[in-house]
Amino acid sequence: MSRPVAGVLSDLESVLIDAEAIRQRVQALAAEIQADFGPGELSVVALMDGSLFFVADLLRHLDLPLHLHTLTVSSYHGGTSSSGRVNMAESLPFSLKTKRVLLIDDILDTGLTLSSVQQRLLKDCQPEIMRTAVLLRKQRPREQDASAEYVGFDIADEFVVGYGMDYQGRYRNVPYIGILNPSKL
Ligand code: IMP
Ligand code: MG
Repeated sequence: MSRPVAGVLSDLESVLIDAEAIRQRVQALAAEIQADFGPGELSVVALMDGSLFFVADLLRHLDLPLHLHTLTVSSYHGGTSSSGRVNMAESLPFSLKTKRVLLIDDILDTGLTLSSVQQRLLKDCQPEIMRTAVLLRKQRPREQDASAEYVGFDIADEFVVGYGMDYQGRYRNVPYIGILNPSKL
């Protein structure tokens, strides 16, 4: 396996989902999305920064004409639990009116982020259709009513890093999804 940055992998306690399992699941998800949407243009809205790696891999398996938009939102502020607030730009820098939209995030945790973004896009942008894809969904009660049509993996309610997901800005470059050593939290 390729090693990203010396010293980073040793901060991880265990591998939850390895790179090959991610690769296979992402490819299968893309096939599902492509079959569901059918031919025609797709507008992708990717939530940054966490979905960066997922989006890059997923979109390369979609044989559809698409536009990629990114939206930077945050609800975590450095720790391992949600801050309860979602920060998002006042005005969205794209129009989705009458578009077929695929919203993508890395992980569905409390549901706060996705429910805020979903409500905002439906209200401000009036897409023709909007579906949501997440790589991970935590098995936990949601504080907000948010759901995703496409889910890579259901995982236990524990804090993960890697493949785009961070702890205090680090570990996004880990090529698999892992659990941090508690001494690093
Ligand atoms: P929610 O708003 O609580 O659903 O949280 C969603 C956001 O929190 C995700 O987009 C992630 O950026 C971040 N997040 C939630 N759980 C984790 C985790 O286990 N590791 C890293 N980031 C996480
Ligand atoms: Mg995020």
